[in-house]
Amino acid sequence: MLRIKSLSQFNGNIEVNDSWNFPESKELLMHKIHTYPAKFPAFLTPKIVSYLKDNGAQIKSIGDIFCGCGTSALESRLLGIDYLGYDINPVATMIAKAKSNLYLTEKIIELFEDIIKEYNNGKFLTPNKFLFHERIRYWFDEDNIIKLYRLQKSIYNVCPDGKYRILFLTAFSNILKSCSKWLTKSIKPQIDPNKIPSDPYVAFKKQISFIIAANEEIKNISPRNSRIEIKTQNILNIKPRENKVDLIITSPPYVTSYEYADLHQLSTLWLGFVNDYKELRKGTIGSEYARTEQESFHIKNKTGQSIVKELFKVDKGKSKSVAKYFYDLDKSVDKTYSLLNDNGHIAFVIGNTCYKGVYIDNAKVLIESLINKGFKNIEVTKRKISSKILTPYRNQDGKFSSNKNGKKVYSHEFIIMAKKPSR
Ligand SMILES: C[S@@+](CC[C@H](N)C(=O)[O-])C[C@H]1O[C@@H](n2cnc3c(N)ncnc32)[C@H](O)[C@@H]1O
Repeated sequence: MLRIKSLSQFNGNIEVNDSWNFPESKELLMHKIHTYPAKFPAFLTPKIVSYLKDNGAQIKSIGDIFCGCGTSALESRLLGIDYLGYDINPVATMIAKAKSNLYLTEKIIELFEDIIKEYNNGKFLTPNKFLFHERIRYWFDEDNIIKLYRLQKSIYNVCPDGKYRILFLTAFSNILKSCSKWLTKSIKPQIDPNKIPSDPYVAFKKQISFIIAANEEIKNISPRNSRIEIKTQNILNIKPRENKVDLIITSPPYVTSYEYADLHQLSTLWLGFVNDYKELRKGTIGSEYARTEQESFHIKNKTGQSIVKELFKVDKGKSKSVAKYFYDLDKSVDKTYSLLNDNGHIAFVIGNTCYKGVYIDNAKVLIESLINKGFKNIEVTKRKISSKILTPYRNQDGKFSSNKNGKKVYSHEFIIMAKKPSR
């Protein structure tokens, strides 16, 4: 870890620290029960906790202000540490809850058998396909719409409201892409005209077998009880709360990289979280749609200001989105500060990128925001990105491309740690 005493000391060329690159063991299956873009590696949570403990910190609770699919939630539970997670996207928080709850394998099997019975024998009034949302009709063929409808109804009929229903709905959510015409692994929603969608019944059965294996594996590593709280909320709107945390581990969204609302649209549509998935773009930090007039944002951050100025010369629209992103990142730092106990710690995982020749030094922008906010003991390390799902490439025009000859947008990332001083 490199200790940063002043901003000028930081530049992205610091050496990669191998000990932060790869985990010592394979990731648990429970981390893989639902795909999620830009998930961070699971081992970072226990590693950061032990690094801080070795340096004298007391960690009784962990928070994550962008908890995504709950990587830090599950790891906190395995460490026996209380947890508070926020994410604006209801699909993310559903997965995070599913992953961090405790289950009895026998109960999963029993409910699954009942769901299958209900699916095969239940009496359903098969609705006219035109009663389904037009986006559902766009992505799925009629046969699969009906099968998915029966499956979802069976889950609701068999599972009482609660953690098992969340688990089965998470399994349902994860098969939606393979059962649709969605181009596999694409970071932009698009139809694959040659795709043969999976059969929902077959895909669901396979998914539940995977979950059962994941649950057995967790059981064998003796999960410990801790209090897990996961909230669907825009972090920028949270109010100060009494119960604060000792450590915040988080990975902010990347700037104009993933449209989380669009990527999760199949789950959002089926699970009925909102009427129009586009509504979820609104508060999502880093969304291309979040651009607003740059002038209306007074970015205090000097590093941010100069990046936005450079971007303005090559792409005015992009400079506005990035200005909004830096503004929101700075506000997230304020929120982080207010959620932490005195002497609490933060660990942000963040990557830099380059757009049309302009280096977007997110790490430096963040460090400046931390210094401005009054965080102390700032330390940074750099790590290689190993296996992020959907890490995109950019071609020479700065557009995303799946062509591996393009420049990888985030091939390294930084772990930035800091401490909130006591008052
Ligand atoms: C890089 S991902 C975090 C991934 C997470 N570390 C994991 O392992 O799954 C960033 C997350 O920030 C969430 N997000 C974006 N804007 C937000 C906001 N205003 N409030 C809360 N969460 C937000 C996105 O929905 C996304 O899940």
